[in-house]
Amino acid sequence: MRGRILVTGGAGYIGSHTTQQLLDAGYAVVVLDNLSNGVRGMIPGEATFIQGDVGDRALLADVLADGVEAVLHFAGSIVVPESVAQPLAYYRNNTLNTHGLLEACVEAGVPHFIFSSTAAVYGDARQVPVREDAATVPISPYGASKLMTEWMLRDAAAAHELRYVALRYFNVAGADPLGRRGQSSKNATHLIKLAVEVLTGQRDHLDIFGDDYPTPDGTGVRDYIHVVDLADAHVRALDYLRAGGDSQVLNCGYGKGSSVRQVIAALERVSNRKIDARAAPRRAGDVAELVAEASRIRRLFGWQPRHEDLEMIVRTALDWERKRLGQG
Ligand code: UFG
Repeated sequence: MRGRILVTGGAGYIGSHTTQQLLDAGYAVVVLDNLSNGVRGMIPGEATFIQGDVGDRALLADVLADGVEAVLHFAGSIVVPESVAQPLAYYRNNTLNTHGLLEACVEAGVPHFIFSSTAAVYGDARQVPVREDAATVPISPYGASKLMTEWMLRDAAAAHELRYVALRYFNVAGADPLGRRGQSSKNATHLIKLAVEVLTGQRDHLDIFGDDYPTPDGTGVRDYIHVVDLADAHVRALDYLRAGGDSQVLNCGYGKGSSVRQVIAALERVSNRKIDARAAPRRAGDVAELVAEASRIRRLFGWQPRHEDLEMIVRTALDWERKRLGQG
């Protein structure tokens, strides 16, 4: 058995997939989740589950006092438009709670920290693919709340015995190919989730938010990354820190862009059905294109994505949705 790992938000979409891979790699995992968005059933059975809030300092002190080798911090709020409407809630949940968690980690002498950051820290990137050293100019409170956490990590690591990896996720999608878990949160706003809702009869059509962008087919281009590859990046980040690696801030994408229309076409191919997709006005705050320059993480961690194919990504998302609804 390897060390004991605390995973906050381990009942969530990315946290639960990563918990599974940590367990498969021989780690003992404690999941802390308040189930505000996460789902109890997504947590692998072998993990120890504590229902509670990252903002609960007494609880954190208790959990960390038992000896934790690393904290993987997924818990947080993630809906960009909601962050615009409720900025202070986002700064509390994402920035203040992480501040408290970091203080608790330093007090308890936790040596390693892995943080779920986001491509939203770049805002409207001037140059695509976007490198890690590009300017960080978030255009939403969500992006700002995550960037502030990156700064806290940087400064805490300089002052204390703490090393960290912050992973800037691009567009995470797909589901466990074995069908054990997938995107389960309510009110998701993401393209692939909404498109599979159309295919499973939960909504009648899909809006294409803008078809006049300066992109090859006029629709928005994103770097979609399969959740299983992203989970693997976390396990590798942990191995890297345990082997003595320096703190890092790394893009987590494939470096390959797909447009909204390409995503829809891939889903139509794998389902053999048409999606009623209608051109609609641009969505506030969207950028034309966001793709990672993703060579650093491959080089540093030897990370080799295994599910890079867009059809694989959308097929697993669709399979999961069907299973969730009892249609599979
Ligand atoms: N889109 C549609 N119709 C929809 C939903 C989305 O056309 O119903 C389009 C968007 O306009 C965009 C693309 O599909 O061009 C992807 O949109 P998502 O909502 O799936 O994802 P975003 O790129 O907006 O968001 C992602 C992450 C956020 C992160 C953001 C940074 O999910 O966490 O990138 O830009 F903050």
